[in-house]
Amino acid sequence: MNKRVLTVGSLIPKHLTTNIPVLRERVTPTPVIKRIIQHPQKTISLLQKNRRFDVRPKKGKLLDAALSQGQDLQYKCKKGTCGECKVKVEKGMDILSLPNSMEMKKLDDVLQEGYRLACQADIL
Ligand code: FES
Repeated sequence: MNKRVLTVGSLIPKHLTTNIPVLRERVTPTPVIKRIIQHPQKTISLLQKNRRFDVRPKKGKLLDAALSQGQDLQYKCKKGTCGECKVKVEKGMDILSLPNSMEMKKLDDVLQEGYRLACQADIL
């Protein structure tokens, strides 16, 4: 199968690029750049009872991601009723879902300060 690869150079007429060697080279993002493009924000930083937790984004519930990464977040019900999993999101709020009704009910007065229920917040 003939797989054609488009590069910056391939989009420029050949007669304009023959004297510019750098334009003839294929531009391939390095693995580090690919990772930054896919996950521009590498961690979600949380505070819970004066303890800091850094969670790598993983689709699903914030609490499940933290627990699967060995983070020792405190929780009880996982239903949004006890409030034990309350965390302050210091970094990464932009990749979390909007607060759901359980969070609004439980955290009404502190939602604006960046608090979330880790068992209810989804990582997008
Ligand atoms: S674990 Fe109970 S509200 Fe999240």
